[in-house]
Amino acid sequence: MTAPLLLCPSALPLKILHVVGARPNFMKVAPVMAALAQYADVKQTLVHTGQHYDVNMSDVFFQQLGIPAPDVNLEVGSSSHAQQTAQVMSRFEPVVLERKPDLVLVYGDVNSTVAAALVCAKLGVRVGHVEAGLRSFDRTMPEEINRLVTDQLADILFTPSEDGNANLAREGIPSEKVYLVGNVMIDTLVRLLPIALEGWRAGKFQVQDLEVEPGQYALVTLHRPSNVDDPAMLAGIMEALADISQRIPIIFPVHPRTRQRLAALNLQLSTSSLQLIDPISYLDFLALQRHAALVITDSGGIQEETTYLGVPCLTVRENTERPVTVTLGTNQLVGRDMARLRQAAARILAGEVRPHQIPPLWDGKASERIAELIAAGC
Ligand code: UD1
Repeated sequence: MTAPLLLCPSALPLKILHVVGARPNFMKVAPVMAALAQYADVKQTLVHTGQHYDVNMSDVFFQQLGIPAPDVNLEVGSSSHAQQTAQVMSRFEPVVLERKPDLVLVYGDVNSTVAAALVCAKLGVRVGHVEAGLRSFDRTMPEEINRLVTDQLADILFTPSEDGNANLAREGIPSEKVYLVGNVMIDTLVRLLPIALEGWRAGKFQVQDLEVEPGQYALVTLHRPSNVDDPAMLAGIMEALADISQRIPIIFPVHPRTRQRLAALNLQLSTSSLQLIDPISYLDFLALQRHAALVITDSGGIQEETTYLGVPCLTVRENTERPVTVTLGTNQLVGRDMARLRQAAARILAGEVRPHQIPPLWDGKASERIAELIAAGC
């Protein structure tokens, strides 16, 4: 639960250092930095690890989300998990030693998150984890390892939903360190949805060159190693998408990892009804989600965004670390079974939509709650 603010002494002034690295981190840091900027005695530094480095995976998000340019870029780039994590650690440690932050905030579950948390824990610097407590209970996912380790190391844990608090309690994390604040990714969505929809109305978006009509297309994203690194699985998914595209046109912005794996398959992929395009900007993607008849994904954040938007979502995974999107929201897990994907898509396209609601505290104010707690010395 949120803390009794009045009982906490003020912690100001404070030096806070934020660490981001990959695309889904950017939507989370933007509102937290903006909320903390309201406190004159908070000095903020932004470190980009460079885990994602393509213009359309990083720079475009900084521009559209209004995130200040990073003070430091560690430029780690792509490599194996061990190498990428180790590079972030060895390049981040001198930054912490030099800048001496009072608190380091890490976001989500990417390699940059766990690497920065490890550095801080060893240096005795306080770490806050934004989006703590999520669990898929699937340790074959690299992100699950990152979540487990980061939460063990963090001094303050900000959870998006009650299940996060329950998971942390089960893992022995003292409840005094845990604050249910809501979903910061939704803060960004709430702020930028009107701008995205206005841009769509005004015909400003790159994707509108595809001539998509609201409600008349499905949107797909896939990048999980479990789906795209196995050629047989990826070929099966593409076959199912080709079938679904005979009923409704599909737009598929392709992640760089997936692009590489698809190239190796050597298939005829893009057709007039299944259009593979490069990764697109935040606003483009938000407007496309809002107007989609159906979203098919294996992303974490998109399960949440579709739940908020009330758009049906089929998740091509056996599990989710975001169970409220299934119990309350519009998300259905179809697993890695393509027959289930085809059937579930057919039902949605036939108009079968389940009742759904927006989870508690997904109200656009999670970051304000985080900033209040930090300023009050939580
Ligand atoms: C990472 C995160 C994942 C998140 C995803 C969002 C981890 C373990 N995984 O996965 O949780 O959902 O980001 O996108 O941290 N590449 C480029 N340009 C880029 C970035 C990546 O070409 O700007 C290519 C590289 O060849 C790289 C591959 O994509 O090898 C994978 O990138 P990486 O950051 O290692 O992991 P993601 O699959 O993006």
